[in-house]
Amino acid sequence: MPTDDMADDESDKRFATRSVHAGTKHIEGAVNTPIFQSSTYYLTDERYAGWANGAQHTLIYSRLSSVNSEACVEKICAMEGAEDGELFASGMAAISTVMMGLLSNGDHVVASADVYGGTYGLMTEELPRFGINVSMADMQDPASYEAAIQDNTKMLYIETLSNPVLKVCDIEAMAAIARKHNLLLVIDNTFTSPWGCQPIAMGCDLVIHSTTKYLGGHSDIVGGAVVGRKDLIATLFPKKVHFGGAPDPHACYLLERGMRTLSARMPIHCSNAATIAKRLEEHAKISHVTHPSLVSHPDYDVAQRTMPKGTGMLAFVVKGGDDAALNFMRGLKIIFEATSLGGVESLIECPFNSSHMFIPEDVRHAAGVVPGFVRVSIGIEDVEDIWEDIEQALNHI
Ligand SMILES: Cc1ncc(COP(=O)(O)O)c(C=O)c1O
Repeated sequence: MPTDDMADDESDKRFATRSVHAGTKHIEGAVNTPIFQSSTYYLTDERYAGWANGAQHTLIYSRLSSVNSEACVEKICAMEGAEDGELFASGMAAISTVMMGLLSNGDHVVASADVYGGTYGLMTEELPRFGINVSMADMQDPASYEAAIQDNTKMLYIETLSNPVLKVCDIEAMAAIARKHNLLLVIDNTFTSPWGCQPIAMGCDLVIHSTTKYLGGHSDIVGGAVVGRKDLIATLFPKKVHFGGAPDPHACYLLERGMRTLSARMPIHCSNAATIAKRLEEHAKISHVTHPSLVSHPDYDVAQRTMPKGTGMLAFVVKGGDDAALNFMRGLKIIFEATSLGGVESLIECPFNSSHMFIPEDVRHAAGVVPGFVRVSIGIEDVEDIWEDIEQALNHI
């Protein structure tokens, strides 16, 4: 019968070792956690006791948790330095459960208009229907967050890097504001992964991931995670059970497998992106390049403090507007035109007709998604092949 007894304890080890070993369940001596494709578990006295005690992390039924979700949660907690966590069926299931689970009618949140499009939709279309209101401030400007705080504000919501314009959030400054006003600080750390940034050490209460991206790393699953303060995760657990956004064991298995190579993949994503960013800055058909490794990035100094290892995410503006950007994209041979990010293969999209298509044009432009804007998730292919692909596609416009 599966037990946690054989799980690794790597809490005193360095990041790469934790990312490989933490959480793995060596059931029957297996090197990898086997797939437990079971919706339910044999009820022992121990499990009845766990159920009576709130059921968190007790193997009862796979909407609550599974062997494979437990392995993933332990690994993400080990990488983020978190006390506890929960796994979800998607990043949006994680975000919506945090919002709907920790906030109530009459509460208020401060967030930013350039959060991920799905998060923006949740905050502007869904939360107000339940009496939860959101004020939009500027993630690049902690003072704007402080100015937006009201008597009923409960939460500040930020992203490590904004999507898609890659503004860098000063997490420590936001944490100081959250502490001063006794508010929850929740961060979406999808764009850097815990390899690139560990927000709990900087004062965040909860860290959210779309595990679909860098954590999974192979564009073969959809998933989400929330890790952080134990008391908040205990509050979230029954909400996850009620809302039902639990992950499937097979997706968890793939997530765990992907996370074991996170610290091998991330340095290649980041150095490839930094190289491409530098070269694009010199290209005659590009009017602007945004990458936190560039000294020209307005938040370069903040990035050096909060996420010095960088990211594989890159944005640039093709001269000639959206038509030119679409022509460029369609001339690419290696880089796939697809939404999403963080996989081993490079992906490109124009936010105006994909991730941000439902965001009003004026809001999009104000957020920096100007005509010709493209976002690339740089993969781990050979950097020269990525560059040659970009060059030949630019030559065709
Ligand atoms: C930063 C960020 N957060 C959350 C999400 C939502 O994640 P999912 O698609 O896994 O629901 C995305 C998806 O692209 C994202 O980019």
